[in-house]
Amino acid sequence: MPSFIGAIDNGTTSSRFLIFDENGNLVIGHQLEYRQIFPHPGWVEQDPMDILGSVFTCIEGALRKFELQGNDVKDLRGIGITNQRETAVVWDRTTGRPLHNAIVWSDTRTQDVVTRLCETSEKGVDALKDICGLPLTTYFSAVKLRWLLEHSSEVKEAHDNGNMMFGTVDSWLIYNLTGGKEGGVHVTDVTNASRTMLMDIKTLKWSEECLKFFGVNADILPEIKPSSTHFGKIQHPTLDRLQDVPITGCLGDQHAALVGQHCFQVGEAKNTYGTGCFMLFNTGTKITPSNNGLLTTVGYQFEGEPAAYALEGSIAAAGSAVKWLRDNLGVIRTAEEINDLAAHVDSNGGVVFVTAFSGLFAPYWKPDVRGSIVGISQHTTKHHLARATLEATCFQTRAILDAMNADSGLPLKTLRVDGGLSNSDTCMQLQANILGLEVARPLMRESTALGAATAAGVHLGVGIWKGGFKAFAERAHKAKEVLEIFNPKINDEERAKEYELWQMAIDATMQF
Ligand code: G3P
Repeated sequence: MPSFIGAIDNGTTSSRFLIFDENGNLVIGHQLEYRQIFPHPGWVEQDPMDILGSVFTCIEGALRKFELQGNDVKDLRGIGITNQRETAVVWDRTTGRPLHNAIVWSDTRTQDVVTRLCETSEKGVDALKDICGLPLTTYFSAVKLRWLLEHSSEVKEAHDNGNMMFGTVDSWLIYNLTGGKEGGVHVTDVTNASRTMLMDIKTLKWSEECLKFFGVNADILPEIKPSSTHFGKIQHPTLDRLQDVPITGCLGDQHAALVGQHCFQVGEAKNTYGTGCFMLFNTGTKITPSNNGLLTTVGYQFEGEPAAYALEGSIAAAGSAVKWLRDNLGVIRTAEEINDLAAHVDSNGGVVFVTAFSGLFAPYWKPDVRGSIVGISQHTTKHHLARATLEATCFQTRAILDAMNADSGLPLKTLRVDGGLSNSDTCMQLQANILGLEVARPLMRESTALGAATAAGVHLGVGIWKGGFKAFAERAHKAKEVLEIFNPKINDEERAKEYELWQMAIDATMQF
């Protein structure tokens, strides 16, 4: 009897449901963009019901195609979940309904909250860094939660009355998929919990000190579990064909990509070019603090195994900058068109685009700066702008890589890539040129979904995932993966000159 594993992947702008066979091959999938709400400049919200609805539609769509291929839904053994991280959802314990729109990770409305909280500690932005591995910025869930408690009387009342549930998107989805107000489970995994600023990354438990710091009651929080374990069973009338299918994997999307790219060895790293772009570097069971503007985070935890940690460099805008060219400027009609436009010229013509739409994340951490385009002349065309848009993520990746090498003391030799923009050959060649490093792209680039399916499959002991995590990791390490390699095509002098322009553009942007 064949076995399949399904993966729900809720990204920032779209959801998908992908089905993998027992050899980890992608069989079929369905994807849907959903509504983004921008009430004010810098504010980004999503309706939690839209997120849920998009997931249901994707599941239905994928199952239909799966059956049309002659497969049987009964052979779906389990489900893994992977999701945009940090986005904060609050809902009513009694009705199961959201108490507010979700505040998305890239939302910067909490700047005043952050400034005020920084002033309460001698350590400023590093007030909780020793406990949770993260600096105080607008990015993480707890500051969004604090803002909600201060600005929504409905949320505050539910919180104070013990009638509120809080979670990142994984928690919201699992709660609903397992029955919602009719007994849905309230859980999360260590990777998602490590992005809230409320978890102690050493004990992998909620930290009383952090809860006190943010003024948050413990009863609103989900139970923290490993990334690969039994989370609950599907119990939802809309998904009657998946009734009782277990959810056995859950990771934040960037952590899932680390697993999906098989970065199980210390010193292996991946960079995922999605709405934002996120590099994670496996530091093993060692917690490595950063002195260079990176985050310390939980990489993954398989049941019965110690957690593996990672250093992370986060870029707030990558694919979203391409979307901006498409939706706001109309320079391209489809995201894919940027590839040809950028390839039309062999340099950026002196144009540098700092895509700080919602501040600059790693390694700069300047939430209040805004984007800039510098070096424009009458010679500048949309081709240069397209190229500068792709280069923006590549340059910031270079800044992150320098920080990663300094923090880890283990210079990276190969950067594994995945995510939407990694499909662009032009972008990946630019990345190799800018880093002066080999860039390796797998043939199957749905790494986040594969990571979630892997976590689910290892727990169930299905197919290639049989025999537990260690055995699988060893097999994955030995197996020769097929990767496309992009080697640098410019020399060190040219590289240094280009990067200098980026640094000048960053300095200029910081002046605003
Ligand atoms: O931290 C935010 C991140 O998880 C979002 O991922 O793929 O939607 O850019 P993505």
